[in-house]
Amino acid sequence: MTNRTPICAANWKMHKTRPEAAAFAVALPPLVAGELERVEVWVCPPFTALATTTEALGEAAIRVAAQNMHFEDSGAFTGEVSAPMLAELGVDGAIVGHSERRQLFAETDEALARKVPAALAAGLVPILCVGETLEQREAGDTEATLRRQVEADLVDVADDDLERVVIAYEPVWAIGTGRNATSEQAVEAIEFIRALVAVRSDAAAEAIRIVYGGSVKPGNAADVLSPNGIDGALVGGASLDPNDFAAIVAACR
Ligand code: PGA
Repeated sequence: MTNRTPICAANWKMHKTRPEAAAFAVALPPLVAGELERVEVWVCPPFTALATTTEALGEAAIRVAAQNMHFEDSGAFTGEVSAPMLAELGVDGAIVGHSERRQLFAETDEALARKVPAALAAGLVPILCVGETLEQREAGDTEATLRRQVEADLVDVADDDLERVVIAYEPVWAIGTGRNATSEQAVEAIEFIRALVAVRSDAAAEAIRIVYGGSVKPGNAADVLSPNGIDGALVGGASLDPNDFAAIVAACR
């Protein structure tokens, strides 16, 4: 058993207008009120709904993260948003390295090596996503892929700061496909990632939260997330409905 507080995060991706985000932010707190002492709940809206969501959540102990950020504080980077800008908005964290950013928007490990420390420097919690593609898994390259991503993306984070990062193990073949990893597959990958962190710091490996993401639904969450060592979930499709998401939060306990 560990003292790590589990995390359940809603990744809305490119969904929800401001009124839709506000309606969710008003509906969710009473649905998860009984869980908030045991589970850290996060909502990750698109940039345009961050302020609305933060305001609508009010005093509710639910955190808000962006879905991406740039590593520079400011500059000539058209279309980008920086960590200090997010912090100023009252945002608590940022997802970085999501596989959709890696695959569709050419996010690189070099950029992530700068994004993770930039988030920490601004006081944001980086939720760093890593995971292998189906081809990599079938070629037996799962561990090599995870090793490459974890080592590269955290290279400029001080050992003492590693525990402030949240890592999401998200096998690419399980995202949005309805095909979730088995709990054995998730545990195996998460234990491997934890061992990679332990190479840097045993204390950080003990403290860092590593969650699973990929087709987590109310119907499979208890099964997939129950083993020790899985510190919660990053949820895409099933996080758009407050009742579905609340059911998954309960399973993260
Ligand atoms: P999914 O997405 O739950 O829709 O598979 C997870 C994610 O992309 O974080």
